[in-house]
Amino acid sequence: MIITVISFKGGVGKSTLSQNLAVTFAHNKREVCILDADKNESSSIWERFRDEDLPTVPVFHVSEQGDISKTINNLAEKYEIVIVDCPPAIENVTSRAVMKSDISLIPVSTTGGGDIWATEKFLEHIELLRSKLDAVIPCYFVVNRYESNVNMHKAYLEALKEHQKVYNVGMISTVMAKRNAYGEANANGRGVIEWDNPKAKKEAKAIANEVFDVALKLIS
Ligand SMILES: Nc1ncnc2c1ncn2[C@@H]1O[C@H](COP(=O)(O)OP(=O)(O)O)[C@@H](O)[C@H]1O
Ligand SMILES: [Mg+2]
Repeated sequence: MIITVISFKGGVGKSTLSQNLAVTFAHNKREVCILDADKNESSSIWERFRDEDLPTVPVFHVSEQGDISKTINNLAEKYEIVIVDCPPAIENVTSRAVMKSDISLIPVSTTGGGDIWATEKFLEHIELLRSKLDAVIPCYFVVNRYESNVNMHKAYLEALKEHQKVYNVGMISTVMAKRNAYGEANANGRGVIEWDNPKAKKEAKAIANEVFDVALKLIS
C-alpha cells in the first residue's frame, strides 16, 4: 500500500500526518516505512529522536534529483505500507509519487483564506495530471488544526465540501484538532499514540484506521 501525503503549502501537517499514520500502523504490527521526499528532512530528523524500544518506523530520504519512482518500487517490495512525505509542491517528485500511490492525502489547515486558495491551485494541478495520464488519482482531504469553537473553521469545512465536488476529492471524516500533543510527540520522535493525550491518541487511531480502510477499498 502506497500512501502519499501532499500539498502546495508547507506547515499544513504533511510530516505530522505521515509520522502519526506510520507510528499507528507500526503499533498495529504493520511493516511500515516513511519515504521523506522533502529537502527539509523533517521526518528523517524526527526518526533520529525515536527511542529504540518503540516499534520501528524506518525513514528513508530521497532528494529532488533522486528517482523517486524506483525508490518507491523498491520500498513497496519490502514494506506492507510506504508513506511518502512530500515537499510542498506538485512538480517532479510529488507528481511521480502521486502517480505511484494508491491514495494521496491532502492535509489542509483550517486557517485563513490563503490555505483554501492554495488548495484550489493545487487541485487544478491534480486535475491536469489526471487528464494527462488518464488516471483516477484518488485524493482525500485530511482536515488539520481544527478548532470546533471557531466559526471560521466551520465555514472552511463547508468550503472544502464544495471543492470536493468540483475536484472529485474525498474527505477523511476524522479531523485532526489543534493540539499541542502533535508538536510535543513530534519533538520526541513519537506519534501521539505514544504521548499522554487520550483525545489525540483516539483521533490518530481513528484516522489511521479510516485511511487504511479507504486505501484497501481503492486497491481491491
Ligand atoms: N493538529 C495540530 N495541532 C497543533 N500543531 C500541529 C498540528 N499539526 C501540525 N502541527 C505543527 O505544525 C508544524 C508544521 O507541521 P508539519 O507536519 O511539519 O507540516 P508540513 O510537513 O506540511 O510542512 C509542526 O510544528 C507541527 O508540530
Ligand atoms: Mg514536512
